Amino acid sequence: MDLLVVGSGLFGLTVAERAASAGRKVVIIDRRDHLGGNAYSVTEPATGIEVHRYGAHLFHTSNPMVWDYVNRFTGFTDYVHRVFTNHEGIVYPLPINLGTINQFFRAAYTPAQARALVRELAEEFDPKAASNLEERAIGLVGRPLYEAFVRDYTAKQWQTDPRDLPSEIISRLPVRYTYDSRYFNDKWEGLPVDGYAAWLERMVENSNIEVRLGVDFFDESQPLSRKATVGQLPIVYTGPVDRYFDYSAGDLAWRTLDFEQEVLDVADFQGTSVMNYADAEVPYTRIHEFKHFHPERAEIYPRDRTVIMREYSRFASRDDEPYYPVNSPADRASLLAYRELMDGERDVYFGGRLGTYQYLDMHMAIGSALTLWTNRLASH
Ligand code: FDA
Repeated sequence: MDLLVVGSGLFGLTVAERAASAGRKVVIIDRRDHLGGNAYSVTEPATGIEVHRYGAHLFHTSNPMVWDYVNRFTGFTDYVHRVFTNHEGIVYPLPINLGTINQFFRAAYTPAQARALVRELAEEFDPKAASNLEERAIGLVGRPLYEAFVRDYTAKQWQTDPRDLPSEIISRLPVRYTYDSRYFNDKWEGLPVDGYAAWLERMVENSNIEVRLGVDFFDESQPLSRKATVGQLPIVYTGPVDRYFDYSAGDLAWRTLDFEQEVLDVADFQGTSVMNYADAEVPYTRIHEFKHFHPERAEIYPRDRTVIMREYSRFASRDDEPYYPVNSPADRASLLAYRELMDGERDVYFGGRLGTYQYLDMHMAIGSALTLWTNRLASH
């Protein structure tokens, strides 16, 4: 074995695939019973509908190197992501755009009129001087739009009143003064034609790669544990960085999600793939309806049934799946301490969203893994 990769998410898979293609013998371990980390999807058995097991995953990128790379393993559909939000029983398009503004104010503003209105409403606070998230958001979009679309949704996401959240959580709140309601601005977007699981499996179709599932790096009873391997060979570690150092500089805080999945005997539950719920009275943040991610599968998906998933957000404990970094000042201080420890760890390469404690979209995880391979590991 020339390289051990801990974690089979897109970061680990990309490094492993590059190394194996260059002739290295690679072993990937993952403590889960499946490959692919959080991008993994399963076929819901009663309906045959593909379900993203760890929340909706939409692929998008403007990076030609990443786009070229991922297309070696899968084609992409022409799915274009759009999100809607339910506020007081009325559905609006997101991100806030001219359609949202005109529907909300029951008006027919031109782009210039809408811009002038938002500028005037936003004068209540200077976003640069804001002392909390609420003031920053009002300084960006004005109180009415903030109270309708941002306040309660943010409070649900963080289980915290936005007046008690630091203003840095949002640097900007996109408002489009056109009717363009595309969620992403990237050059390429789509979903893997044969599903995520097929894409991720294809990345390890190389005789130089061995995958061992259900194997925890910190379990000293198995032969590829931290104790048995560090210092023996190069290791790419994509698990939580605080866990690697036995939480010696403190726990890094994460938010997690709880998912409630249901098969319904209706053809179409909500008419779209993702519906946010902006108000405090509704305990979940959004509902996914998976058949809408693949309109091209209409012939094979059932006409009379659908799969929905309600998403609830909360702070994670050590035993929960870490999803989004909280990134408080205390977390940032701990991360600095962990970075020093990482520098002292010879031949261990920390990567991915858990290994670097940052939110990474799939294309970012793949891009940084390609860079790690090219700049540091290829010549190892
Ligand atoms: P990832 O978390 O996927 O993989 C890490 C792997 O390491 C896991 O499989 C884990 O089991 C394993 N591991 C951890 N500790 C271990 C140990 N001790 N021993 C062995 N294995 C261990 N991106 C995007 O582009 N579009 C989108 O729509 C979304 N949506 C989205 C929704 C949600 C809810 C989340 C949380 C994330 C997204 N993402 C996303 C981000 C996407 O999931 C992310 O880019 C990739 O998961 C990054 O891959 P990594 O390999 O870094 O981590």
